[in-house]
Amino acid sequence: MPLTPTGAIIHAAAAAAQGVGAFNVIQLEHAEAIVTGAEEAGCPVILQLSENAVRYHGALAPVGAAVLAVAKAAGVPVAVHLDHATTPELVEEAVELGFTSVMFDASVLEYEENVRATAAVVARCHAADVWVEAELGEVGGKDGVHAPGARTDPGEAAAFVAVTGVDALAVAVGTSHAMTTRDAALDFDLIAELRAAVPVPLVLHGSSGVADEHLTLAVERGMTKINIATHLNQVFTAAVRQALAGNGELVDTRRYLGPGRTATAAEVARLLQVLKAPVLTA
Ligand code: G3H
Ligand code: ZN
Repeated sequence: MPLTPTGAIIHAAAAAAQGVGAFNVIQLEHAEAIVTGAEEAGCPVILQLSENAVRYHGALAPVGAAVLAVAKAAGVPVAVHLDHATTPELVEEAVELGFTSVMFDASVLEYEENVRATAAVVARCHAADVWVEAELGEVGGKDGVHAPGARTDPGEAAAFVAVTGVDALAVAVGTSHAMTTRDAALDFDLIAELRAAVPVPLVLHGSSGVADEHLTLAVERGMTKINIATHLNQVFTAAVRQALAGNGELVDTRRYLGPGRTATAAEVARLLQVLKAPVLTA
């Protein structure tokens, strides 16, 4: 199965009111687990690398090449996305490596500045056939502090999409990044208003804090790309802890990362059903 354009995966799902799982990769095992889970579920999936993960590795190219290789070897359509990039330089590097999409996150800037910076990134990416997501109404928690209060204004969101030409929009509807409890209160009426006002697919960030039934409802009300990172790390780490517990002699990293990878794959397969992800027919 070839690496698949992000837009192709997202648009097919949006047209059918289905969700697409966009899961964050840090280690190679994350990418392997996410693809295995998507293959088990028979669904397309998005592997995404955040600017923070790139900072952790010290560079985009090595980890980016590995993620692209995992995507290209998959048995289901897989897109590779740069998440929360704050500089045009990192976007450029991702475009040159062959990523199928980027998120340019200028949400901390004033509206006019966000428009100017985002429009420039869109012009560059569209020239290379790369799909662009932007954010309006900053989704909190990027600094680790739970902050679910921000809300995106539907009228402003529609104007932002028209003037920047972005392909998808991340909106603030009650989530917050990096939550370890799944009790965020989503504003479902606002999701429906945004869906009616904004002509491009909508993206839910900070989805780890959202309970299963509310993820399904969010998709039904109009969210398409559902970003999940922290929750998978919880699952991965719990399995690693269990493998290490009481086993002081264990030194082979495969003996504890392997169980983390297996548990994560199963959770990805389960979540794709929760998100009503499209199931591919043979
Ligand atoms: O961009 C990635 C996400 O918004 C993931 O957030 O760690 O709260 O699931 P999360
Ligand atoms: Zn995010």
